[in-house]
Amino acid sequence: MKTYLVTGGAGFIGANYVKYLLANYPDIRIIILDALTYAGNYGTIAGDVDGEGCIFVKGNICDQKTVRNLFETYPIEVVVNFAAESHVDRSIENPQLFLETNILGTQNLLDEAKRAWTIGKDSQGYPVWKENVRFHQVSTDEVYGSLGDDGYFTEQTPLDPRSPYSASKTSADLFVNAYVETFKMPATITRCSNNYGPYHFPEKLIPLIIKNILEGKPLPVYGKGINVRDWLYVEDHCKAIEMVIRKGRPGEVYNVGGHNEKQNIEIVKMTIDSIREIMEKEPEYRSVLKTDIERINYDLITYVADRLGHDMRYAIDPTKIGNELGWYPETKFEEGIQKTIRWYLKNQDWVNDVTSGDYQQYYERMYGKR
Ligand code: NAD
Ligand code: DAU
Repeated sequence: MKTYLVTGGAGFIGANYVKYLLANYPDIRIIILDALTYAGNYGTIAGDVDGEGCIFVKGNICDQKTVRNLFETYPIEVVVNFAAESHVDRSIENPQLFLETNILGTQNLLDEAKRAWTIGKDSQGYPVWKENVRFHQVSTDEVYGSLGDDGYFTEQTPLDPRSPYSASKTSADLFVNAYVETFKMPATITRCSNNYGPYHFPEKLIPLIIKNILEGKPLPVYGKGINVRDWLYVEDHCKAIEMVIRKGRPGEVYNVGGHNEKQNIEIVKMTIDSIREIMEKEPEYRSVLKTDIERINYDLITYVADRLGHDMRYAIDPTKIGNELGWYPETKFEEGIQKTIRWYLKNQDWVNDVTSGDYQQYYERMYGKR
């Protein structure tokens, strides 16, 4: 049995990853470390935590004592670091928090993993590492900056972050690289494009649009709606991470993406069309609507002030992970968006839970002024 420390496991991708591991690898014991910020929800993983095969610890990745205690209590061999402040708009409001969690938090995890996993020194003074350990950093395509109409991000694309969020994620990646070079730490990085799927917090585009459509509220589209993102179903991302941990070469970076570029306005229109179609064909879902079915149309689209420094286009070249590890995006967008919408229709209690409290104030602050 292998023990994984999964940080940020109560958030969107982290929780999907925990569920993916539990469903496919019963021989892995999972320790979830999560601070339960506004973006983390214990309810998302409550049914998975059993105190043995899956253990939950509420705590901050920046806290040395907490992290050290975990390494001293459990035989952790793999760290998968999802924990982060993840929302670009919030990083524009409060950059400092992003520096603390995303940079200092990652560095604290690196230090504590190094402390726990070093079993001696070699003749040149490099640490000798315990066998079969791995530090995996979950990073983002945003570290590469923004593309024009053509081209793709490869692992060789120079780092060029442009928002406080992406600057903090890039710094974290550089720290991981520094530990690889300086200490020969067995670490890997995945840089993934935009995820969508169940348990996605409704401050991000797709779940926000779904929520607002069901409530008959305006759909805020930044600028002209022509910015492009490369969407990947979250389970495909989880599979990629696990493949890299198992088979990826230590010290390497792997891009993960679905070759599924879409303008934001296309995403919004597809979501409206899909929800309208489901409501027409499957009337049992209409009880979820807080609006008249006739109002589900493009009139809901509302162009609002653009995001400051809004990156125009992201597009991943996933050739390396495909060639080396055999990964490919299994879920077609048309199928993934249907699955996602149906999940939200069936899980309105989850949406209500995570959007009470702080979320209301955030929404007012963010969209009241646009
Ligand atoms: P999320 O915001 O949904 O979840 C983040 C989780 O981290 C939450 O559970 C939160 O409580 C926890 N957390 C935050 N600060 C913490 C701290 N100091 N200590 C412990 N836990 C803390 O984020 P997500 O969308 O699931 O993203 C997960 C990771 O994947 C992030 O590192 C993000 O940069 C990266 N990523 C996200 C996407 C995407 O499309 N969402 C794409 C590529 C990479
Ligand atoms: O590319 C990977 C990144 O994807 C991750 O690293 C981030 O953690 C994740 O949040 C996501 O960042 P984006 O900024 O691309 O995602 P978001 O859902 O916030 O926005 C997607 C696009 O939609 C973006 O061009 C901004 C636009 N948008 C977003 C919101 C919330 C709107 O037009 N209206 C909105 O209300």
